Amino acid sequence: MDDNKKQEVLNISNLSKYYFSYSSLFNVRKNIIRAVDNISFKVYEGDIFSIIGETGCGKSTLSKLILGLTNKTSGEILYKGDILNYNLKKLNLRKKIQIVFQDPYYSLNPKKKIYKIVSLPAIKNKMIKKKDALHYSIQMLKKVGLDENYVFKFPHELSGGQRQRISIARSLSVNPEILVLDEPVSALDVSVSAQILNLLLDLHEKDNLTYIFITHDLRLVRHLADKVCVMYGGKIMEISPVDRFFKGPAHPYSKVLLESILAYGPKNILQFADADGNINNINHINAGIQKNNRGCVYYNLCSRRQDKCMNNEPELKENEDYRINCFFPYNL
Ligand SMILES: Nc1ncnc2c1ncn2[C@@H]1O[C@H](COP(=O)(O)OP(=O)(O)OP(=O)(O)O)[C@@H](O)[C@H]1O
Ligand SMILES: [Mg+2]
Repeated sequence: MDDNKKQEVLNISNLSKYYFSYSSLFNVRKNIIRAVDNISFKVYEGDIFSIIGETGCGKSTLSKLILGLTNKTSGEILYKGDILNYNLKKLNLRKKIQIVFQDPYYSLNPKKKIYKIVSLPAIKNKMIKKKDALHYSIQMLKKVGLDENYVFKFPHELSGGQRQRISIARSLSVNPEILVLDEPVSALDVSVSAQILNLLLDLHEKDNLTYIFITHDLRLVRHLADKVCVMYGGKIMEISPVDRFFKGPAHPYSKVLLESILAYGPKNILQFADADGNINNINHINAGIQKNNRGCVYYNLCSRRQDKCMNNEPELKENEDYRINCFFPYNL
């Protein structure tokens, strides 16, 4: 469906999160880590909006900002037009956005039985009374394909896939409209991850949920997502409909990312050559991001860079249905 006809559920504008660190014990100069740096985008109802990018580019920080799990440095997040600031009065808004974490082994309280884990968010949000916890969690477990026998078990008695189903049930227990999925299957083996993905697709259809789907796996993006948002160094490089993206991405960094999976193998994966042909590892890339913060964040590695890119920061340009943060993109 055309974006103009869909309802906008999230509107993120100029959002930033900076961390400060000292390079050594006696160093008084602070280093700034621009984990999320002045980014803006909209998410529409029912979309599967995927966020991709290499490790450390700011995907999880962005999801924590959306969920109010960390304070923003600046910017604004609107949920259906209301500012999300996560004070107690806005608990009602908070429950509308839930998260499923990457690792089901660490995201469930090992001391609590499943029915307590699953019903707690609904009790805290005053949606159910404590006495209804058992009945409510059985209903939630059915939604994620587990039978009622699991309610009295502890997390350690379950497999990885079953635990991830419990995490999803816990998130669904407050009737959210948006689920943030931060690498929801990367800790699971291939067949179990396929089952969890099918479950997520089913729920997406039935409950008309909106997903923000964070992943490293471009094959999943191709299979599941409606939109692709590419991040690098805390910034958005490109937002594109998924078909368009896989026909040929516009941003030079997106092209490198895509080629790294098309030519999947030890030689290509996570080896990014800079514009002069030198292979960089992630640390060098991050060092590049720190040094070059006046111009384009991808300048040091870009094969299409020109003088203009060194001292000028490109802004995401709107081009019909896709946006590119580059002065010299491909395929426009
Ligand atoms: N609490 C923190 N204090 C200081 N720096 C942090 C903190 N959390 C994240 N960072 C830094 O912010 C940057 C973005 O981190 P983030 O976890 O968002 O990356 P990511 O894209 O989710 O990576 P991955 O794909 O490995 O999960 C990194 O450079 C990271 O070191
Ligand atoms: Mg992460």
